[in-house]
Amino acid sequence: MPRFDDADLAVEGGVDPRSPRDQRGSTASGLPIPNDAGNTIEIPATRSSISDAAQFMHNLSLSPSMKDRRGSRNSFGTSLPIPRSPRMSRLHPSAPDVSRDILASQVQDMSKEKVAAAKNMAFAFDIDGVLCHGLEPIEEAKEALRMLNGDNELGIKIPYILLTNGGGKTEAARCQQLSEILENPISTDQFIQSHTPMQALSEYYETVLVIGGEGLQVRAAAENYGFKNVVHPKDILAWDPTVSPWRTFTEEERAQARPRDFSKVKFDAILVFADSRDYATDMQLIIDLLLADNGRFLTRSEDPVANRIPIYFSQGDLVFPTNHKGPTRLTLGAFRIGVEAIYKSLTGVDLERVVYGKPERATYTYADEVIRAWMEQIHNENTLPKNIYMVGDNPASDIIGGNMYGWNTCLVRTGVFQGGDNDPNNPASFGVFPTVLQAVQAAVRKELGEDFKFKWNPKVNPVTHGDGASAVE
Ligand code: G3P
Ligand code: MG
Repeated sequence: MPRFDDADLAVEGGVDPRSPRDQRGSTASGLPIPNDAGNTIEIPATRSSISDAAQFMHNLSLSPSMKDRRGSRNSFGTSLPIPRSPRMSRLHPSAPDVSRDILASQVQDMSKEKVAAAKNMAFAFDIDGVLCHGLEPIEEAKEALRMLNGDNELGIKIPYILLTNGGGKTEAARCQQLSEILENPISTDQFIQSHTPMQALSEYYETVLVIGGEGLQVRAAAENYGFKNVVHPKDILAWDPTVSPWRTFTEEERAQARPRDFSKVKFDAILVFADSRDYATDMQLIIDLLLADNGRFLTRSEDPVANRIPIYFSQGDLVFPTNHKGPTRLTLGAFRIGVEAIYKSLTGVDLERVVYGKPERATYTYADEVIRAWMEQIHNENTLPKNIYMVGDNPASDIIGGNMYGWNTCLVRTGVFQGGDNDPNNPASFGVFPTVLQAVQAAVRKELGEDFKFKWNPKVNPVTHGDGASAVE
């Protein structure tokens, strides 16, 4: 099947050949120079930007001529841009229950110490393996969230956010789905998925290839972040189905795609937001662009480093727990290692790339800002609680990241971790718990007292209730 031209595809205008990075200045390597003047800040990278491929590969020989060729780079890889402050939705999380809220505020007036402690703690929950397995809830999670949403002796909201390496759709779509599954309202203002902080990159790149997720939902996510020209692999397949030799492209998919003459488009960056649903096509297109001359399809650069466009992955987990009965399943980190290995075997050069998500420091720094903003929404106080508890199932992601960032860490047994007393390499600082519910209860008891009651009593007498008094009659 022939490739299409823009004229065939009724594309009007065309893309400004000058991308934002071209317009704002760049180094000889063509990568953008971040500055702190805009709406983003740069967080020093925790991990090396050089691919892990060598560590995982066997018998892939290096071409001697290519071996030591690694171009000098600017801040790409050494720091990760994140938004200066989170974008808040204008939606109120839930309708107030006036009589209950009045009683709760009377109870809270009598329990000032506990109230202060409740506002000085927060939780960051991993999702897969802690709150859910895919679309199936972990039952104990519902009770934990209900308690934090006010079903406790003070009727107070104890702040929490969701911090997941999952992704692939808009924050709004995922929060709606989670609210239904977990039977608790989840606001986008308390939610961070792997690619949420990557919205900062929209200030650096205009035309991006976005990979991963179901259907075309990542396009909506990337457009919400402000990327101007978001290209999905299906757009490219619709232009030229021969790019992916084994792929059958349906008419239905073609109808949803936005093809144009991609030989005339200059890509600024590749963003892998979520798990690929079509490894063959996605890997082929990524490799095509990495080897191309400055991000132009159908070209090959003579120098695989100097003219390569940057690639970002939203997270690096190798495996994740699902409702599959056997061992954990492969996820984005495994896909990334595949890309790195192919790139290295074709060029002899280690791929330089950036990986967001837990355990990267940038993700935790962003989480602090989201917790602070959420505190303002629920308690009208722009403060960051001192005692933050990360509850996760993956020692190599949730726990190491939380430990490095100075949070308390709780490891649960409902996901990746299936070991003994604690993880030997990345032990959870606050302990190991059967489920998220026990972790939350232990943390709340530590901060608010061993006798703290995990149930709101609608018949509570605010006069007899208070610091030093019996909690529930
Ligand atoms: O792909 C891995 C991802 O789903 C893990 O999510 O919530 O465990 O960080 P989470
Ligand atoms: Mg997990």
